[in-house]
Amino acid sequence: MDHFQLRDGVLHAEDVPLPRIAEEVGTPVYVYSRATLERHAKVFREGLAGVKDPHIAFAVKANPNLAVLKVLQRKGYGADVVSGGELTRALAAGMAPDKVVFSGVGKTHAELLQGLEAEIGQFNIESEEEGYELAAVARRHGYNANCALRVNPDVDARTHEKISTGKRENKFGVPLDRAAEIYGALAAEDGLTMRGVAVHIGSQLSTLEPLEVAFEKLGRLIAEIRAAGHAVTHADLGGGLGVPYKAGDTMPSPAEYGAMVARVTADWDVQLSFEPGRVIAGNAGVLLTRVIRTKRSGNGPPFVIVDAAMNDLARPAMYGAWHDFDAVEPSGERMTAHIVGPICETGDTFAMDREIDALSAGDLAVFRTAGAYGATMASSYNSRGFVPEVLVDGDKFAVVAERIAAHAIMDAEKVPDWLA
Ligand code: LLP
Repeated sequence: MDHFQLRDGVLHAEDVPLPRIAEEVGTPVYVYSRATLERHAKVFREGLAGVKDPHIAFAVKANPNLAVLKVLQRKGYGADVVSGGELTRALAAGMAPDKVVFSGVGKTHAELLQGLEAEIGQFNIESEEEGYELAAVARRHGYNANCALRVNPDVDARTHEKISTGKRENKFGVPLDRAAEIYGALAAEDGLTMRGVAVHIGSQLSTLEPLEVAFEKLGRLIAEIRAAGHAVTHADLGGGLGVPYKAGDTMPSPAEYGAMVARVTADWDVQLSFEPGRVIAGNAGVLLTRVIRTKRSGNGPPFVIVDAAMNDLARPAMYGAWHDFDAVEPSGERMTAHIVGPICETGDTFAMDREIDALSAGDLAVFRTAGAYGATMASSYNSRGFVPEVLVDGDKFAVVAERIAAHAIMDAEKVPDWLA
């Protein structure tokens, strides 16, 4: 459930009518709902009621906005980060360093050191090579790193291939059949405390079965590592729960997920952590856009050209993803249209032959479920600026990321003297 609902024929974010935000901030603009974020954070935590002392680390990549992180920090969430930039944000939002987990296959020397200096809770090591490098950096600078070994369980998450991460051919984690051996080797390194294992098989999962298969494999690995004489006190089960992008779609609920986790991990005797991203932020945001004009096409449906484009919301162009598209002030009339942005490539298409609310030039509309992997994946392609972000809280709202105008991006460039 989210807090973007029609009231008296006008779409609101909580108690704020969206036309007011369009008026004051301009379009396109991302709009987030604090109540929805908090609700999702609560529902996810309650879903884990059967798990003892779970640690929940929001996957910052889903929505790194500082105000969004702050909302979650206040709900006791930590952070799953995958870059020095995300680590800086998590700490700036007040997240306790020991609640930060650092994932990612390509952490640089500088990023490893940044994590050590911040004394983060856990590094999720994605290769044997990374483990040795982290150990060396830690020793050289006098730190000790708490680590989990991320394993690749070779499970098909049955999601979009670009967001599957747990198949043998994917770059993530170490192969399951070598994991115990690598864990043992790294456990012998000064500078590292190997304390756990981690798995994340993909994102936008619409069934629990692949997760269950992966977790069962992880359970057997824990037993194998312990049998070899090493301690395993932590297990990180990653993120991945899907959200409904289409009205009427159903997805496994956090309660069903939590019940499955509790059942599969009952005898693991570890502290579990989780890295949810989309399920927390996805339906807590919309991209508010204005129709620039409609355009007749040959024989087919008209094009509805909106002021948002693939640079602002990349998911449809990148993954063929569906985002529900609704008028802010629906008249009740419907039309079939192609929804496109202004960018000069055909990939800048949000939907083809979509039945939508009737719209004409100047009307406002939203792409729903844009709170995760929305603003954060924006680019400035076609010399468009970066879209602002707004956080709504009841009847008030604040701009939580300013629009970065195209000219500000140009200001960072220069023509060298020898060319002037
Ligand atoms: N943990 C790790 C190690 C991850 O790689 C990810 C997502 C998550 C947690 C969070 O997964 P979630 O709960 O959000 O499914 N840009 C794509 C999604 C990429 C996800 C990458 N990893 C999209 O727009 O669909």
